[in-house]
Amino acid sequence: MQITNSFADNQSYRLGTTITEHLLLCQDQCPDASGQFTRLLSELIISAKLISREVNKAGLVDILGGTGDINVQGEKVQKLDDFANQAIIWRMERSGLLCAMSSEENADVIEVPDNMPKGGYVIAFDPLDGSSNVDANASIGTIFSIHRKLDKEGCGSMDNFLRYGYEQVAAGYFLYGSSTMLVYTAGKGVHGFTLDPSVGEFLLSHQNITMPERGKIYSINEGYTEYWDERTRAVVNYFKSSKNDRGKPYTARYIGAMVADFHRNLLYGGIYMYPADSQDPHKPNGKLRLLCEAAPLAFIAEQAGGAATDGTQRILDIKAKELHERVPLYIGCKADVEKAMEILQEK
Ligand code: AHG
Ligand code: MN
Ligand code: MN
Repeated sequence: MQITNSFADNQSYRLGTTITEHLLLCQDQCPDASGQFTRLLSELIISAKLISREVNKAGLVDILGGTGDINVQGEKVQKLDDFANQAIIWRMERSGLLCAMSSEENADVIEVPDNMPKGGYVIAFDPLDGSSNVDANASIGTIFSIHRKLDKEGCGSMDNFLRYGYEQVAAGYFLYGSSTMLVYTAGKGVHGFTLDPSVGEFLLSHQNITMPERGKIYSINEGYTEYWDERTRAVVNYFKSSKNDRGKPYTARYIGAMVADFHRNLLYGGIYMYPADSQDPHKPNGKLRLLCEAAPLAFIAEQAGGAATDGTQRILDIKAKELHERVPLYIGCKADVEKAMEILQEK
């Protein structure tokens, strides 16, 4: 099977190259692929279809609003957070492909129960990113990061998760927006698939996504300017200045769901930032979680020709010390991320 290269004139959407066909093709080209990874992604896709179905019913059935619980991150749990978390855990623990899981919503490692078959992978995920946007019908998503289990560790070991980002075997996200999309990388480029509800399949719609060298959008919650240090303010002022390397101010866009902000910047070119809030004792390292938010998106950004840093080092070079570790994040087009890092490091 030949997959065409150009999105604009390709036939793969109309004639329907499904995600399964794409994965099988990639598997054929990778001599050490066991097929387990393909099956793992297929199971994840079913979870995402279930979440997408619930998201699309929001407003019609009683799925909006909070559960009344506060999660391990100290944040309000939305009903859809809860549904998405359960949908993923339920399918993943029955897949036979995983050994353990880590969810943004759960304090500890979730082991696959003893009576279920185990596999060679572990997954970290944010079941619903941007869930505070749910009630307003704005885009939200699911982010995932897949590692191979460490040979020497038992399934429940935290060390299976406390790894470098560069060790990820795959990462991706589902975006529940004007359409539902899957964007993923397994280290051979970034590919996007759009759910066609009429056939119930994710069809290849964006092959080999690449980011421009420099973007035109900056995305940051500028409401927190007062909390930033002087260097962080200088970064944002650079993007707003007509004297920057682009020669004109960047456009500001901020949805408040990182996955949606990242996706737009991936396609149009830009930088997303969630800095350390030096004045806010609750967010000394910003808000975003290394394992289930920053590292997977950093893998995708790099595979698309972009970059991701915490301001001092490459996100993928950080070894997690805690399951829910937070990290400042600057992610997007390479020249923009490098410029942000340069300004942050100026004395
Ligand atoms: P989550 O819904 O998984 O808790 O993540 C929300 C995150 C991220 O998606 C978003 O970019 C950021 O929170 C927005 O935070 P602010 O409201 O502080 O800008
Ligand atoms: Mn999130
Ligand atoms: Mn979340």
